[in-house]
Amino acid sequence: MTDWTALRAADPKIIVGLMSGTSADGIDGAVARVHGSGVQTRVEMIASVTVPYPSPDRRELFALFSPPTGTVERICAFNFRLGGLLAQAAAEAIAAAKLRPDQVHLIGSHGQTIYHIPPQSAGAGSTLQIGEAAVIAERLGIPVVSDFRVRDMAAGGQGAPLVTYADYLLFRDARRGRAVQNLGGIGNVSYLPPGGGIDALLAFDTGPGNMVINGVVELISGGAMEFDREGGLAAAGRPDEALVETLLADPYFASPPPKTTGREKFGQGYAAGLLASARQRGLSDADVVATATLLTVESIARAYRAFLLPRGPLDDVIIGGGGSHNPVLRQWLARSLRPAQVRTTDEWGIASLAKEAVAFAILANEAVTGNPGNVPSATGAAHPVVLGKLVPA
Ligand SMILES: Nc1ncnc2c1ncn2[C@@H]1O[C@H](COP(=O)(O)OP(=O)(O)O)[C@@H](O)[C@H]1O
Ligand SMILES: [Mg+2]
Repeated sequence: MTDWTALRAADPKIIVGLMSGTSADGIDGAVARVHGSGVQTRVEMIASVTVPYPSPDRRELFALFSPPTGTVERICAFNFRLGGLLAQAAAEAIAAAKLRPDQVHLIGSHGQTIYHIPPQSAGAGSTLQIGEAAVIAERLGIPVVSDFRVRDMAAGGQGAPLVTYADYLLFRDARRGRAVQNLGGIGNVSYLPPGGGIDALLAFDTGPGNMVINGVVELISGGAMEFDREGGLAAAGRPDEALVETLLADPYFASPPPKTTGREKFGQGYAAGLLASARQRGLSDADVVATATLLTVESIARAYRAFLLPRGPLDDVIIGGGGSHNPVLRQWLARSLRPAQVRTTDEWGIASLAKEAVAFAILANEAVTGNPGNVPSATGAAHPVVLGKLVPA
């Protein structure tokens, strides 16, 4: 049983955010103390964990991403299996915070996107996140908010990016123009002009974050490596700038926001195509990874020039997500984005790997409070909506 009125009134709340992004590397869990709600929200991070998927589960997820292998039976079964893994990750995060489950007010769980169809015309889009929230609530006895994206899409939005609202609450500044850039599988940015209100936000997916880098690394290593740890391969290679130019001619990069993308576009097929072109041009393994890394960097830098700078100044670029742990990506971004300063969310007390998980803790708080959590200027939705579905403890 959950007394939603009492839960709404609790201040501060201890909230666990759970996120598994398009990289499908693992589950990020964050425990935060959330004070207030809406524009008054203040967040103190207590602990965070990243729980990598066991290899068989990761393989199963990739089978689900692909329509020929993602059968209804496998999706049905894995929805429950993933609910259990999410509950386990939440339990580990709660233990890392030195708390007990009965001290936690709420869990906000994004789940795992297995398919996303951006709306080409009004009402035509769809999205599917799995990781059964009922299993999490049953295992831990904590109320859960899940399935955040669907209401925004039902209101005509892209269902993404949803972290914009949290980026605004956490990082806005009266005097400095800021881009909050997530470097997950996909890259997405929230631009916060100085002193601007929530209506002044611009947010969209810049294109690949780590997804193409991971894709070519997996192909080159025959599956032995999942990513370019510490940017070691990229640092040893030389990017093929002409090939990057060709790749940047893809109409996705020039098309104006709102826009979102995903594994459907920049997944394994894309990486295989890039690798084939690179081989024809005689590139070494390291050169291919450097080229994929430069693609991410240049797609971000050019998107900022085309879409952010006409809206206002850019003083800080605040990066988060796994790619912020790739020093080559970070250095090349800093070089391309000068004079803006590239910083990480850690400087604001938010562990960079946990930033998106914290965002879903914040969105869960908004859901139980009854506040909208989408930013229509970012998602393209017709109006603000309350995001998420509530499962009692
Ligand atoms: N130490 C590191 N060096 C290089 N890349 C890293 C490192 N740590 C994480 N990453 C990259 O970050 C990715 C995971 O980022 P994450 O923010 O979890 O993305 P997503 O939200 O798509 O799951 C990994 O797949 C990898 O590409
Ligand atoms: Mg991840």
